[in-house]
Amino acid sequence: MIGKLNHVAIVVPNLDVASEIYRNTLGADVSDAVDLPDHGVTTVFVTLPNTKIELLYPFGENSPIQNFLDKNPSGGMHHICYEVDDIFAARDKLLADGARILGSPEPKNGAHGKPVLFLHPKDFCGTLVEIEQV
Ligand code: CO
Repeated sequence: MIGKLNHVAIVVPNLDVASEIYRNTLGADVSDAVDLPDHGVTTVFVTLPNTKIELLYPFGENSPIQNFLDKNPSGGMHHICYEVDDIFAARDKLLADGARILGSPEPKNGAHGKPVLFLHPKDFCGTLVEIEQV
């Protein structure tokens, strides 16, 4: 059901420092920072030959990643995103198999403007999983 790894998201305590590490120390193609107020994050996209890394920093008062950063002040891996062809078919199979979806089971447009769902980490080996219809 799942296809390509679309991205790995890493919450960071300082986007400038993280961008510098990825751009200069690791030699990657790093975007400018983009505010996504609807998602409560500021994002820097790191484009790799086979996938992307998203560096996330809280935006605004009620950022969904503030709690994660409070618990992980050095930053840390937040979620991985797998591509699916049909997010409704994927959701129905996951629910039928007993997996839990975080929040509403209706897909919302994610950081790339495409429909996404987040799956409970306890059902997926301790990892927050995002599925995105591409
Ligand atoms: Co994501």
